[in-house]
Amino acid sequence: MWVRLSGSGSLFRQVYGALRAEILERRLAPGTRLPATRELARELGVSRNTVIQAYQQLRDEGYAAARTGSGTFVAETLPEDRVQVRGRRGAPPAPRLERRPVRAASLAPSARAARTLEFAPRDLVWGMPRRHLPYDFRYGEPAFGDAPLETWWRLAARRGRRASAAQLGYGAPCGAPELRAALAAYLRRARGVRCEPSQVVVVNGTQQAIDLVLRVLVDAGDRVALEDPHYTGFSFALRAHGAEILPVPVDEEGLVVDALDSARAFRGVFVTPSHQFPTGGILPLARRLKLLACAERNGAFVVEDDYDGEFRYDGRPIECLQGLDDGGRVLYVGSTSKLLFPALRIGWLVVPEPLVAMFQQAKVLADTGTATLEQLVLADFIEGGHLERHVRRSRARNAARRAALVAALERHLGREAVLLGTGAGLHGVLSIPGLPMRRESELRKACAARGVGIYPIAPYYLTRPPPRAAFLLGFSGLDEKQIAEGIRRLAEALRSGGGSGDVLP
Ligand SMILES: Cc1ncc(COP(=O)(O)O)c(C=O)c1O
Repeated sequence: MWVRLSGSGSLFRQVYGALRAEILERRLAPGTRLPATRELARELGVSRNTVIQAYQQLRDEGYAAARTGSGTFVAETLPEDRVQVRGRRGAPPAPRLERRPVRAASLAPSARAARTLEFAPRDLVWGMPRRHLPYDFRYGEPAFGDAPLETWWRLAARRGRRASAAQLGYGAPCGAPELRAALAAYLRRARGVRCEPSQVVVVNGTQQAIDLVLRVLVDAGDRVALEDPHYTGFSFALRAHGAEILPVPVDEEGLVVDALDSARAFRGVFVTPSHQFPTGGILPLARRLKLLACAERNGAFVVEDDYDGEFRYDGRPIECLQGLDDGGRVLYVGSTSKLLFPALRIGWLVVPEPLVAMFQQAKVLADTGTATLEQLVLADFIEGGHLERHVRRSRARNAARRAALVAALERHLGREAVLLGTGAGLHGVLSIPGLPMRRESELRKACAARGVGIYPIAPYYLTRPPPRAAFLLGFSGLDEKQIAEGIRRLAEALRSGGGSGDVLP
């Protein structure tokens, strides 16, 4: 505990005064346990008796209270607050809390921070508190109930208990060797990535992978291509970095590579080939090969974001871009956010061999490395076959959820609605051709009033509004019953006039 003694007056007065100030200024919050007297005495270099006396005084005055057997705690209500609450006439005025005034910041932000604020705050949604809706088709969250948490925590407890001194020290910046090896083998087996463990950089999620790619490969003013519509995690980072964005249209098969090919020169391109975000197209092999050739002609890099590619439902997966690339241009990114849970903040970036040293330096400067023990647990999880077992099971679960969604839409909306992009991944795009764009937010509100969450696709467009009203429907966070009921309510909201009373019966 950090307590500063004033240096004047008796030691008892100094210890008592310092603790009282900590309590009054709320640095020691109500209910906080004060350190054991022996421990604090040792820390402050005073006798234990002095600390015992100071605690006694705080208790006598009502700043602290003893709980038998468990120590001394800061009082839930301070004497000053009691005086104010009672506000009795004639009561002595409450002592003023001595807080140091904090002046409004007069520090100017960097140009980068100013760009970040200019482009991002409105849409930064990660971790924001939100309204609970019982039928929330929120995109992006896996089914937490599906995650084998028991197994995870068992492995974590074992790793924690057995951690060696070396594992508790600084780890290798690009990741624990155990995890890099496990990931390289998994990615070769499951995703067709051609890599050695030395090419795997363990990162704190996809967002850090994007950030590192920009640090290593993009200068301010460089032109970088994005799918339009796109994942906003790319555009926020590119704009903050000062890059120029080149929007490239998307159709039902993903990036329109011919449009990229005929555009101006570009330094790099970010793509989601296994399940275009957000529209859901799966990039065909011919387009993949064309994209690689186009990158080659431009001397450009390709970032392949394989965020939910494990969840492929129809047909065989197409080889990933990285596996098709002979030119060392593709940087492959994946993360545990959809596979397990986003709070893990572990992802992987597979980089061409010649870039490994540069990415290592960038990672050192960013954070000196990702938390080691969690990496080791993930390595055990993969090595033990738990990841692939979990993927197999949750693919089947999500296929059932997807089928429930298709059936419910068929039943309640029939030909009035079209669901696209569900060949893979954890969400689809619901398009309602009869719904005018201007009614989109009305429908969303009418749904929310019925406990249903739906999410317009419009914010993901870069240059133009979407051709028609459409919503992202995430299905992995609900069970089949909730999906059926949610869609029934959505249809009811639509018919009640929320959104399109003039079009539908
Ligand atoms: C397209 C896309 N890529 C990646 C991610 C995962 O990001 P992260 O690994 O930073 O959680 C998401 C999450 O929603 C996503 O939609």
